[in-house]
Amino acid sequence: MVDKVLIFDTTLRDGEQSPGVALTAADKMEIARQLEKLGVDIIEAGFPRTSPGDFSAVEAIAKEIKNSQIAGLAHANPEAVDACWDAVKVGVAPRIHVFLSSSDIHIMHQLAKDKETVLEMARTMVARAAGYCSDVEFSPMDATRSDRQFVYWMLEQTIAAGATTINIPDTVGYTVPEEFYQFIIDIKNNVPNIDKARISVHCHNDLGLAVANSLSAVKAGARQIETCINGIGERAGNAALEEVAMAIKTRRDYLGVETNIKTEELYRTSRMVANLTGMSVQSNKAIVGHNAFRHQSGIHQDGVLKMRETYEIMNAQDIGWPTSGGEIVLGKVSGRHGFKSRLEEMGYFLSEEELSRAFMAFKELADKKAEIDDRDLEAIVADKLRTAQEVYHLDFVQVQCGDHAAPTATVRVIAPDGSIRADAALGTGPVDAVYKAINRIIQVENELTEYHVKSVTEGIDAQGEVTIRVEGGGRSYTGRGADTDIIVASAKAYMNALNRMISAENPQDAEVRV
Ligand code: KIV
Ligand code: ZN
Repeated sequence: MVDKVLIFDTTLRDGEQSPGVALTAADKMEIARQLEKLGVDIIEAGFPRTSPGDFSAVEAIAKEIKNSQIAGLAHANPEAVDACWDAVKVGVAPRIHVFLSSSDIHIMHQLAKDKETVLEMARTMVARAAGYCSDVEFSPMDATRSDRQFVYWMLEQTIAAGATTINIPDTVGYTVPEEFYQFIIDIKNNVPNIDKARISVHCHNDLGLAVANSLSAVKAGARQIETCINGIGERAGNAALEEVAMAIKTRRDYLGVETNIKTEELYRTSRMVANLTGMSVQSNKAIVGHNAFRHQSGIHQDGVLKMRETYEIMNAQDIGWPTSGGEIVLGKVSGRHGFKSRLEEMGYFLSEEELSRAFMAFKELADKKAEIDDRDLEAIVADKLRTAQEVYHLDFVQVQCGDHAAPTATVRVIAPDGSIRADAALGTGPVDAVYKAINRIIQVENELTEYHVKSVTEGIDAQGEVTIRVEGGGRSYTGRGADTDIIVASAKAYMNALNRMISAENPQDAEVRV
């Protein structure tokens, strides 16, 4: 039988530590459901001791998700371990993940402790976690820059104290594949009780080597890899789940292992995480980037047309890529039934109410745009799901602008109590005018820090998708909106970001319009 490598996904914890990313509880739940569907073995749902919000998000996820294990992260102190257990204990197979630095540089300059004390903290906190739960992971942070002998002792003692997984983090993305391979082999040879635990690795991408290092570790015997969707995470991010999963699937001949990942869900998961975090995927990103299966040069196109495998080592359908390239999926005369079944083929199972709203938006788009493909449908569904969670609803937006006019916007919004509020404003451009008018109505202090627009498909009649980031109350929030009119898309994106900010600050308001 082929050996399994477990996938431990930390998008909701390390991924959320990406600069500028702040997920709401609803976002986290949506991502967790998708990770479960993707077949992730263990979902690290958060860091319960860090904030009441993180605690309740982890607890809610542990309550709902049944087919993936839920883990929480804990510093090596009693309060953090206890909080972690309290958050995950409702889960079907909870895991506590304790971490503590092992490198001299961290021990001396960050912890300001001696090594004996650090060993004692690791041992006692793992034992405390093991007293609660049979599944405990321990990570010696900054392991790859640590004194090897110290790491071996730490691992031996934490395994003896009850750790069932020992995770080797390359916290600062410092190691290289051959060195990391040897490190894992050395751990196997120098930690006497290593057979009592599973070896895991957690690689950061500072030198662009996170996936390569993770695969090297698998070759040496690691049987859990920690990943993030789209490779997000602290600084340059973590090993990308989609790259790890497809490398293991595509090079099973060489690596000789497999994962439980349902790779057809990768594309959808990637889009969801990009949408909710506001971290777009670069075009040339492996597996899920816009260009990952596009061929430009004549010789490549010729080869692929004759036989796909001439220039493709993977099949885009195995990753769940939507049909594209001008293929018409649905048109103006398509009915609700055809629309619904195409969405279901794409993996979107909407409630009747969501479906009605999405179908209306589809009909409106079909009136404006000649060809509608899966990418349009995806944008419609994302837009409609976003409005289902809103507090304030954008009723209409109208602008006047041009090279001889002062950009002026009129905006009407429906407030949570059902009242209609309208206002107008002048701006330096149409988007500025719209945002100022919205600010006059929804008075929440915020600063726009990023604004991007891109087209969803090719063609002059394409929908524009706007992604923005606003800062407010010490946190940042992303917003997205799509429409054939980019000013309307901009207004939707702004409303989306403000609604997320309001929901995060006053969770009770979020219930009002759901
Ligand atoms: O990078 C790191 O060391 C971590 C640990 C908490 C595993 O994220
Ligand atoms: Zn990390």
